[in-house]
Amino acid sequence: MKEQLKEIQVTFSQRLREVNEMQALENLRVEYLGKTGVLKEILRGMGKLPKEERPVMGAHANEVRDALEEAIESKRQELKDRQLDAKIAKEWIDITLPGKKIQMGHPHPSTLTTRQIIDVFHSMGFVLEDGPEIDTVANNFDALNSPPDHPSRDLSDTFYFDEVNLLRTHTSPVQVRTMMKQKPPIRMISIGRCFRNDALDATHSPMFTQCEGLVVDEGITMGDLKGTLEQFVKLLFGADTKSVFRPHNFPFTEPSAEVDITCFKCKGAGCRFCSGSGAIEILGCGMVHPQVLEYCGIDSERYTGFAFGMGIERVTMLRYEIDDIRYLFENDQRFSRQFRR
Ligand code: PHE
Repeated sequence: MKEQLKEIQVTFSQRLREVNEMQALENLRVEYLGKTGVLKEILRGMGKLPKEERPVMGAHANEVRDALEEAIESKRQELKDRQLDAKIAKEWIDITLPGKKIQMGHPHPSTLTTRQIIDVFHSMGFVLEDGPEIDTVANNFDALNSPPDHPSRDLSDTFYFDEVNLLRTHTSPVQVRTMMKQKPPIRMISIGRCFRNDALDATHSPMFTQCEGLVVDEGITMGDLKGTLEQFVKLLFGADTKSVFRPHNFPFTEPSAEVDITCFKCKGAGCRFCSGSGAIEILGCGMVHPQVLEYCGIDSERYTGFAFGMGIERVTMLRYEIDDIRYLFENDQRFSRQFRR
């Protein structure tokens, strides 16, 4: 029996050396020390031994069992340590590596222009008004003194929903809305989208953005209009930018003008950007027509006013030297990334 126990210890040690994962270790434990294990089998044979040998063999068998148990326990610890080492090695993080750069969003160039325009007019005491993109024929045309046969009313120029509603073709209906709800003094700007049935090309888009301005009070003159817009142009385009007021015609202003500014590119010498003229048109303006004031319930004998309207995309293109309006709407990252600050 002693021999058998010796044999068991030897083979067990060999087997144990080959074990390298927990389940195999458990299997080996059951095989040797379990209820029907190798060792139990041997102990069962003790009954056949002579009486005096039994205690000695029993003690020896217990020693062997203890030794096996101890070996298994230490192997279990070894496997556990190995598992932990492997886990630590796998999850190791090099905290000295440089961090990943987070891609931050940034404003669109038209937004940059819009914000700056708002800042400039805010500094002059203008308040921001809002109006709907879907407005009425009355607000968009009738109130603005536009004759029934005016070409801009044409189906090929204006998107109509029906006889009453349309997509506004300019932000001027916000003038009307403001004068309807508020009596003078009025000093407001409004920025929003407008729609015209134009084909998309380098300088036209069926959807574009306008900034409208309106001042109504007692004693407002063309001088106020000129002073305000000249100051605006200098703040937005630089102190040495000159503005030229060129007579024009709008149904809702009288007199009316268009404002040209010195071409920022050639400084007035004439270049491709300004088609050789040295100047670029940036807005339309004029003294609010008395008819418009009266339509909105404002006494045109007592009050006068001026108004202006400019295209945000146009101003953006001039400020950033963008030669095609489509870049502003396509959201191509190669374009918009250039405005990250
Ligand atoms: N609404 C005009 C346009 O769309 C611009 C404008 C606004 C002109 C206010 C005069 C006064 O062209």
